[in-house]
Amino acid sequence: MLKVSDRIGWLEGIIEAVHDGILVIDRDGIVQLVNEEYTNITGVDKEQIIGKPLTDVRPGAQLPTVVRTGRPQEGVFRKEKGLEYVVDMAPIYDNNEIIGGVSVCKSIPEVYQLSVELKKNKQRVNQLVNAIGRIHQVKYTFSNMIGTNQRFKKVIHQAKKIAPTDLNVLITGESGTGKELFSQAIHHASPRKAYPFVPVNCAAIPSALLESELFGYEEGAFTNSKKDGKVGLFELANKGTLFLDEIGDMPMDLQAKLLRVLQEGTFRKIGGLKEQHIDVRIIAATNKDLVNMVKKERFREDLYYRINTVHLAIPPLRARKDDIPKFVSSFMDNQGNSTQFQVEEDVMNTLIQYEWPGNIRELKNTIHYAMNMADHDVITFDNLPETIKLAFQHHKRTPHHHHSLEELIRETEKKAIVAVLQETGVTVKGKKAAAKKLGISLASLYNKMSKLQIDL
Ligand SMILES: Nc1ncnc2c1ncn2[C@@H]1O[C@H](COP(=O)(O)OP(=O)(O)OP(=O)(O)O)[C@@H](O)[C@H]1O
Ligand SMILES: [Mg+2]
Repeated sequence: MLKVSDRIGWLEGIIEAVHDGILVIDRDGIVQLVNEEYTNITGVDKEQIIGKPLTDVRPGAQLPTVVRTGRPQEGVFRKEKGLEYVVDMAPIYDNNEIIGGVSVCKSIPEVYQLSVELKKNKQRVNQLVNAIGRIHQVKYTFSNMIGTNQRFKKVIHQAKKIAPTDLNVLITGESGTGKELFSQAIHHASPRKAYPFVPVNCAAIPSALLESELFGYEEGAFTNSKKDGKVGLFELANKGTLFLDEIGDMPMDLQAKLLRVLQEGTFRKIGGLKEQHIDVRIIAATNKDLVNMVKKERFREDLYYRINTVHLAIPPLRARKDDIPKFVSSFMDNQGNSTQFQVEEDVMNTLIQYEWPGNIRELKNTIHYAMNMADHDVITFDNLPETIKLAFQHHKRTPHHHHSLEELIRETEKKAIVAVLQETGVTVKGKKAAAKKLGISLASLYNKMSKLQIDL
């Protein structure tokens, strides 16, 4: 046990170490202790105040009232001789008896500084809340993937093997073959599954915005930027997986920036000074021929090798036709329909023979379309979408030479438009995407649809 005099020495040492101004009075209102910071904040010297009644030196002081009433006060604003500060006051007890009181003061600049910091943190919370809305839940896992085709099973085997590692993955395959599905399944089967899976479609975001989407920006980085700044998808995906969909559409200058991030594991926000460390696994996907793009210098070779550590090439549906009946029955079951649908035998043959340019997505849409068109619980050839019917009717019933050139063009055009629409869907968004794919304006797409009597 320390001697009383030593204890007071300790106490003085402690209150000097505290960053706030401290003043202690006894039950008679006599000042017993003040620290250096108190004199800095209030401009009162130690000698002027120690051992004196507080109210003599500081006529407006409220601490004696706190000692008398036993009621603490918080956040009391004081302004004296041009100095502003905020005080918290509390009684000091010994064995349930009030023996004095203590004031703790913070100067206004410090309070202001804290409020600035609080505001910053609130902004950051807001940014994160906004950004979290973007994180999609992973829906697919390896266990709900359909397919027993040999070539497909090899890809699954390879994907399962590399899933738990941190290797970057490039997934290639035609549209609708399941690239997104694989990326989700890989994330789900990795130790990163507790962290975000953040998908970004490089083709859907205008290239001018893509950089700020990926890397974010600091507050006030450019004139029209959001006041609070923005958290980039890279930062959002920290410890998780960033899925760069349609990477073939990433502009060259961004490819360079991406490469730097992958090589160094650090990035900088737009308008930011600090390099930030990140730990993100990249899964990239494309339906473009990246090797060819590298040859044509439209894709950086060094980036290609970075993301191509593991390459999963998903076969198109026409190369795994043995899986078609499985897909058909699964897509009929998944509609949550109480009726058990069936397909006529020649319909199944048609579905197996068809080439499926839109792959599994097209097959799924076809089945759902046909189920809606069917009068009963059996899907007939007639219930199939126009594109598929056209593909077969053409060979069966209308040989080429009966067509005039004009008719042939008309029919080909109709087929092409229907095929694309089937893939993109017929919502306004779908039509816009279809027009883009076909290289025509939305207006001329509408024009052609009405001229060619396309009614989906
Ligand atoms: N093996 C599979 N088992 C079950 N469903 C599948 C399978 N492969 C693909 N699908 C389904 O097909 C649709 C298309 O898949 P996904 O979106 O992953 O394709 P994608 O390759 O990313 O296409 P795109 O290049 O057009 O973006 C999804 O509805 C998905 O559920
Ligand atoms: Mg996709």
